[in-house]
Amino acid sequence: MPGPTDPQADAFLWGAATAAYQIEGHPLADGAGACIWHEFSHTPGTTYRGHTGDLATDHYHRWPEDVALMRELGLSAYRFSIRWPRLLPEGVGRSNPAGLAFYDRLVDALLAAEIEPLVTLYHWDLPSALQYRGGWANRDSAGWFAEYAALAGRLLGDRVRRWITLNEPMVVAVDGHLRGRHAPGIRNVFVTARVIHHQLLGHVAAYRALKAEHGGLAVGITLSNTAVWPATAAAPDVEAAEMAHAWRNFPLFLEPLTFGRYPPELTELLTAYLPDAWEADVEAMRLPPDFVGLNYYSGERVRHDARSWLGFAVVQEPEAPRTAMGWMIRPEGIHRILTQAHARYRPRSVFVTENGAAFVDRQGEGGVHDPARTAYLRAHIREVLRAREEGVPVDGYFVWSLLDNFEWARGYARRFGIVYVNYPTQERVVKDSGLWYASFARKRTVAKEAVDATA
Ligand code: FCB
Repeated sequence: MPGPTDPQADAFLWGAATAAYQIEGHPLADGAGACIWHEFSHTPGTTYRGHTGDLATDHYHRWPEDVALMRELGLSAYRFSIRWPRLLPEGVGRSNPAGLAFYDRLVDALLAAEIEPLVTLYHWDLPSALQYRGGWANRDSAGWFAEYAALAGRLLGDRVRRWITLNEPMVVAVDGHLRGRHAPGIRNVFVTARVIHHQLLGHVAAYRALKAEHGGLAVGITLSNTAVWPATAAAPDVEAAEMAHAWRNFPLFLEPLTFGRYPPELTELLTAYLPDAWEADVEAMRLPPDFVGLNYYSGERVRHDARSWLGFAVVQEPEAPRTAMGWMIRPEGIHRILTQAHARYRPRSVFVTENGAAFVDRQGEGGVHDPARTAYLRAHIREVLRAREEGVPVDGYFVWSLLDNFEWARGYARRFGIVYVNYPTQERVVKDSGLWYASFARKRTVAKEAVDATA
């Protein structure tokens, strides 16, 4: 059984995650181009009180302090994303030297602090210039993305070993193109299906482009997940839960990448909307990623509902404990997602690339006391390590997020950080949960007993 003497324990990454638009600020500085979140958040009525990423946590200037903070916390890895239009203001073509220099210095500083950088290429900030050409709804997006991936790989591939192509392509498709509550604010199911399909093509093209730059790179994809349980053992509820799982979670993307087809549960639904010749495309998508990134926040019970488009409805559970996002707290769900992914697709390596919670935090005299977040992290980490003990090849865990930040449509009204950001002064204060995570991470252990043994 793995314990503190587990030789793998040292290699396990204990990190924190962020995304460029959520923390950097200064989206147009030094020659960078606009992105869809810049335009969306500046459009009246889209975000909480009109909040934008114009300043965010000012990480664009404060990154040395943030790297020092991570070092103090004893993190062994940091997952961040590159703002595509900082490197390529128009998305393709001419590159921006100041943007290249920014990420170049950040990576050097992380390595000097002995923190392994994991780079996400696309965490939702598509260059506006490409959105005007149709964005992910345009099949050419795969080629645009590969050009960007190659440039980033050329710049950082000598120092960054692990790369994530896309962050949560399902959220991009559904929140951005079906519900319209995220950038680019479109509501069209045919566009949604194309965005799913083209992101998969883009992932594969970027995978190849990165490997062509540096053969030794490990390239993965990060997928969103909500654990799903059927409301009852009756067949219609069980089927509804299977449908919900395939549509919202890793199967929609890992089925094509592992088996060259869309999940059988969804094929009938998707064929009504997919672009012509999708069958040939999907067969060619069979290219298992080197690792799979799984994000997890919450779990739900689901029942059959013939009136709903996808045939399922989420069971209302007014008594369930929730975070400030209204998301139900279900630590066993992260174990469920990890073991389901392992059973169905046998990924070579898995990272929990995001897990965390928003609560209402206040800066007091003696710091920021957030016992609910510490309890959330403890419970979830315990479940991750239980899945690992049972044979799921989990190689790392990343808290969302290092810092409080711009929580998309919710603006700065939701705080996910293990470090508090006092926005008017930009002061950083490590929350109690951050102190707990630091003392746990410093042990460099993968024994789940250590979670409880850490005060
Ligand atoms: C995920 C996003 C991340 C953050 C968390 C709370 O869906 O990837 O940027 O907003 O949710």
